[in-house]
Amino acid sequence: MQRRTFLLLPLLALPAAAIGREKIVGLPCEGCDAVFVGQPAQIPGLARIAPAGEPGEPLQLRGQVLDAAGKPAAGIIVYAYHTDAAGDYPPLAATRGTPAQAHGRLRSWARTDADGRYGFDSIRPGGYPGRKDPQHIHLHVIEPGLRTYYIDDAVFEDDPRMADPAIRSQLQHAANRGGSGITRPQRAAAGVWRVQRDIRLGMNIPGY
Ligand SMILES: [Fe+2]
Repeated sequence: MQRRTFLLLPLLALPAAAIGREKIVGLPCEGCDAVFVGQPAQIPGLARIAPAGEPGEPLQLRGQVLDAAGKPAAGIIVYAYHTDAAGDYPPLAATRGTPAQAHGRLRSWARTDADGRYGFDSIRPGGYPGRKDPQHIHLHVIEPGLRTYYIDDAVFEDDPRMADPAIRSQLQHAANRGGSGITRPQRAAAGVWRVQRDIRLGMNIPGY
């Protein structure tokens, strides 16, 4: 899936101390350093991405992280970022030199609880304007003290762009990193979407 193209540019400008804690695996991983930028000291199990008042349909992303043996993995950090409801990231000129520079302003971190569960409250992102890429939420895993890597984006089965055979084919040949990212949106409440994106640690991650 298409990733933001200006990720190559900003990292040189970031404070060196903010980069490179856990080892980055699953290479190539353009922009993976950004998972450390602005990472808060305290990370909740349920984190908010889009601020209150952000235009768009409310969306609850939930999931359970399992280790290679299928046991719930506690204390794993899941990092997520996505476009706004119109499918846009902010222009680089608007975020240069800020923590939002690499992945935009709609980003956050959640840490799994004892049952391996994590969650984000946000809005449903739009697909990139003028392109065929489906709506998506980029996801990375940070295994504290060990490693970090990106996994397959969360995408939405009911997204009209997912009906495009070319897109489907592309997804089917995706690496299935961390397990499937294809979710089936349900209504959690009136006007609120809920999707489940479970994660299997290390699955199909080169060099894991
Ligand atoms: Fe994206």
